[in-house]
Formats: sequence, C-alpha cells, structure tokens
Amino acid sequence: MNYRHAFHAGNFADVVKHATYAWVLARLAEKPKPFAVLDTHAGLGEYDLEADQATRTGEWRDGVAKLRNDLAAAPESLAPYAAALADLPPRWYPGSPRIARHFLRDGDRAMLCELHQVDAATLQRTFAGESGIEIVADDGYAAVKSKLPPRERRGVVLIDPPFESTDEFDKLARALRHGLKRFATGVFLAWYPIKDREGPDALITAYSSGEVRRVTLAEIEWPPAPDAKGLRGCGILAINAPWRYEEAMREAWEWCAARFKPGAKVDIRVLAGE
Ligand SMILES: C[S@@+](CC[C@H](N)C(=O)[O-])C[C@H]1O[C@@H](n2cnc3c(N)ncnc32)[C@H](O)[C@@H]1O
Repeated sequence: MNYRHAFHAGNFADVVKHATYAWVLARLAEKPKPFAVLDTHAGLGEYDLEADQATRTGEWRDGVAKLRNDLAAAPESLAPYAAALADLPPRWYPGSPRIARHFLRDGDRAMLCELHQVDAATLQRTFAGESGIEIVADDGYAAVKSKLPPRERRGVVLIDPPFESTDEFDKLARALRHGLKRFATGVFLAWYPIKDREGPDALITAYSSGEVRRVTLAEIEWPPAPDAKGLRGCGILAINAPWRYEEAMREAWEWCAARFKPGAKVDIRVLAGE
C-alpha cells in the first residue's frame, strides 16, 4: 500500500471522476426517497493543495487549476461538481467522500471504505459527529459483498482503486460482478487509469457483450508520448447510470478536456443498452 492520493489530488483524472460522481449524486438527490453511497476506496476525504505532497507533483495545476475559475460559465452538467467544489476554500480539494457529503440529505447514507489505517483515522476525524456517514477501515472489495444491497435499495457504488497491483483490472471486474449480483439496480461507477490500452480494452470488450445491460463508457486520453509509461488518460465504466448520463458526460468531459493540456481525446459511448 504505497499509493498516496495526496500526490494526485485535483489532477485531470480527479476532475473528470468527481464531475461524473457529482452529476450522478445530484440525480439521486432529485427524488425524495433516501439513497446510499458505497465508496470502496475513499482516500483522505479532502486534500490541502499547498501541502508537501500536492506541491511536489503539482498535478492539480494541470487539473482543477485549469478550470476552477471558469466553472461559473460551464455547462449545466458541471453544476453539481462546481457546487461541491465551492464547499471548500480553493486551497483545499474535495475527494470523493467530501463530494458525496455535499449531496447527502437527512436519511441518506455514505459508507466510506479506506484500508490504510492512518487515512481511515483521518476520515473518521474529518466526518466525526456527522450522521449518515460510516467509515469502514477495511477492504473496499470485501465491502461490495458485506454492504450491498443497501437497505435503501437505491444508490451509487464508486470503485476507485489505486491500481498498484497488476491484477487490479481483474479485481475491478470481479467487484462489479459481485456488486451487480447483490444490487442489480444500483449505479456503479468504476474508475480506471489509461497507461496502455491492454486493461481498458479488455474491460471494454467484456462489457460490450451485452451480458450486462446499461453500460456506458467515458474516457479521456492523450496520445502516447515516445517511451512514456505514465498515466495518459483515464476512464469510467458506468452501469445503470441515470437518464441522460451519456449526453451530460459528453458535454462535461469535452468542456474539461478543452481546458486541460492540448491533444486530449474524449470518448463517451454506450457499450450496452437497455
Ligand atoms: C485512488 S485513491 C481514492 C481516491 C478517492 N476515491 C477520491 O476520489 O478522492 C485509492 C485509495 O484506496 C486505498 N486502498 C487501497 N487498497 C484498498 C482496499 N483494498 N480497500 C479500501 N481502500 C484501499 C488507498 O489507501 C487510497 O487511499
């Protein structure tokens, strides 16, 4: 467990992931019926962009810093993300727990899993005394089995692993399989990195078969630089996304891509329909 999200907070991948997550949460909050959130890999909850780790990489400068000041004029599909960002001063960046917190109403619930014990303790402190928030200092993949289906029978599952191990794409696919078996109507958002096309393409092929219905892909990707092995894009596989997700994500991701480093290609498409 070497991965520390504080080095990457607010980068381009966080921006599109959190914009997507915020849009889905806003849709869930439109209906009065309570909903539940399961965040399998929660991280720290919120990040100081002027602290040592974020400063050392400066990744947020090519991410949230490129668009924060323009968000007031952004398309409607980015309004939920803009609203969640505005909860914190600009020096701080909201992680997925803080984004979820923005949309929770009385009666809604969030289960936030974080295996790193120090980070889990930080999460616990950050949300101490807040009703409806449960910190699970344990394996998020196990929580897919133990926490689903939620009693509310509606909600979103965010699967956002660190991709430190070579079999993380397999673990992600397994978690989706187990999750859908338990909570067939839940919204699932599974984030993945694009370093090469092997893992992403295998996932896309598997979810294009039609065996699982209502699957939408969103990707942003820069062309590979010669000899570069790092992150050059990311994607989110969404299952059971709310109505008009595809159009909203096309608008949101393209608007963000136009503000990031030049050359990004956005691909939003339905892999399997109703
Ligand atoms: C990509 S970060 C999460 C970022 C967060 N979802 C966000 O958007 O702000 C991945 C996190 O998963 C944690 N982690 C690693 N393996 C885990 C596991 N099996 N279960 C739960 N958390 C895990 C890491 O410590 C790290 O904080």
